[in-house]
Amino acid sequence: MTRRAKVFVSRIIPEAGLGRVRAACDVDVWQDALPPPYDVLKSRVFGVEGILSTLNDQIDDELMDAAGDSLKVISQMSVGVDNIDVVAAHRRGIKVGNTPGVLTDATADIAMALLLAAARRIVEGVEYIQSGHWRTWEPMGLLGGDLSGATLGLIGLGRIGRAVARRARGFEMRLVAHSPSCPAEEAAALGVTLVSLEQVLREADYLSIHVPLKPDTRHMIDRDRLALMKKSAILINTARGAIVDQMALYDAVKNRDIGGAALDVTDPEPIPLNDPLLTLPNVIVVPHIGSASHRTRDKMAAMAAENLLAGLAGHSLPNEV
Ligand code: GLV
Repeated sequence: MTRRAKVFVSRIIPEAGLGRVRAACDVDVWQDALPPPYDVLKSRVFGVEGILSTLNDQIDDELMDAAGDSLKVISQMSVGVDNIDVVAAHRRGIKVGNTPGVLTDATADIAMALLLAAARRIVEGVEYIQSGHWRTWEPMGLLGGDLSGATLGLIGLGRIGRAVARRARGFEMRLVAHSPSCPAEEAAALGVTLVSLEQVLREADYLSIHVPLKPDTRHMIDRDRLALMKKSAILINTARGAIVDQMALYDAVKNRDIGGAALDVTDPEPIPLNDPLLTLPNVIVVPHIGSASHRTRDKMAAMAAENLLAGLAGHSLPNEV
């Protein structure tokens, strides 16, 4: 009988991935709806060869120590890997995988959904009805912003930023972006003008963030940068919460320095119920559902399984960080 590698899967994930891991490995699957606490995670990974992780798991040097020398591969079921100390993993010869590409469309869809919801005050409208305030069609009620002719500012023009740009073109928006790594011809082909970060902030009627969380993007949108934005501008974040200084965002919306915000990601997650942001009517917060479509999550799980199995076999990963 061939030896089955011991692996830890830190959440119940779609069968499209879990089934493949189960078929090939000796699997310990964390069964709880909530992710394993750090100390528990440390004890569960002892002696494993592979970890299939999610963005909730803190995978640092100490955790890799706890796993021990057997650990060959960390396969994360997300594109963002800011929860993993990738440098430490590589130093130890541990491969790290992620799931880029398959969640691009779903995440771009959520960015557009948030943009439309904030622009046209959808959540306020639902609350208006539910609280019994709707009495008649109102010539002046719940007025919002238009998309056509408005400027969408993109911070980051990678896979997801570009998918948002393609969608926004369909809404006849003007597009500007800050993306030092995107060649100007590629941006031009999408109808996007590349400008400085300051210019994006100044020109955007809607600002959408599409960069990974790294040391140099943490609090990239701080008090000073929020101050550059139009008073009517709406900030959309589907990337990572910590890219925005959330206290500064609260102050900016509260003081009407910007028009509102729509967030799929917060810092921390979940956002505490007593966070002042949740008291503002022109702030929409949804619970990190950017990739949460049936098809996308199946693909992410399958891709994470493929990366894991490749790493266990000593091969390079189809999607290696
Ligand atoms: C989700 O947030 C991801 O990084 O895939």
